[in-house]
Amino acid sequence: MSEGHGYGKTILFGEHFVVYGRPAIASALGSKTTARVERIRAKDYELVDNRPETPNYKKEKFEEQKKSLENIFKAMNIDPKKNPLRITFGGDLKAASGVGASAASCAALARALNQEFELGLNDEKINEIAYEGEKGYHGTPSGIDNTAAVFGGLIWFVKNSEGGPNTMDRLNLKKPVEIVLGNTGITSSTTEVVGDVKKAKEENPEKFERIFDEYNKLVNAAKSSLLKFDLKKTGELMDKNHELLQEIGVSCDELELLVNTARESGAFGAKLTGTGRGGLMIALTPGGELQNRVAEAIEGESFSALKTRIGV
Ligand code: MEV
Repeated sequence: MSEGHGYGKTILFGEHFVVYGRPAIASALGSKTTARVERIRAKDYELVDNRPETPNYKKEKFEEQKKSLENIFKAMNIDPKKNPLRITFGGDLKAASGVGASAASCAALARALNQEFELGLNDEKINEIAYEGEKGYHGTPSGIDNTAAVFGGLIWFVKNSEGGPNTMDRLNLKKPVEIVLGNTGITSSTTEVVGDVKKAKEENPEKFERIFDEYNKLVNAAKSSLLKFDLKKTGELMDKNHELLQEIGVSCDELELLVNTARESGAFGAKLTGTGRGGLMIALTPGGELQNRVAEAIEGESFSALKTRIGV
């Protein structure tokens, strides 16, 4: 029996833009998914998914999850028909759109299999395998989710559009910062939303070029504001990033309500995080008092809120 883990993540800057080689900033969450693998007498693998979830998330992702598991077995050269296994997912990361739940489970499973089959793989290799697993969920992942899931911490990530190694730099914050994640309760399809953005970009290249240029300036400013620990500026830039995400068509009414509720309760900044069209909203809420106030306001609107920190 072997076990592995993978962290959840939140994207502070750059979902969708990261798919097109623009830099993004993400932070691992304190919550993680665990995977346990045990050899069993059976004809194939068995899956027990005990992760807490947003209602219906696991059902809606079931087919993609199956594909993802197959990709991981293939990438690790493991044939579950010859080596039947029970895979049990668990941990305290609530499986939902926007927290990198799929990437966390891929990283956890790759780690558990690495240990069980004594493959001696390092974190870089585990990350490559988790990326193959992510492809089961959507064909063209940027790699940011699995990188955050494997390495943890606050990261600056740039996908290598030429297919070579991606860039990952650690960003060290002066101290951890409180955030609130508001959950729309809606499970979105990354494949669908990423596909729609691609289509809109092809139909309107000039508009997207302007948005991408604006985003480039914004993310570089965000990196320096985070490193200077200028949280007011960081929050303003999150608001601006949300505007760009609205422009590319990935927000929705529930996310707008969450963003506005967080801002009206004093959040330094708020935006959608992850795929969008459902999933989560991230609000920057330095200090326990502000964090509590924003979380309560979100709960007051009948959404669930997760209080956590970035840069831990
Ligand atoms: C999903 O968490 C983030 C997206 O940018 C997709 C990706 O990076 O693969 C929407």
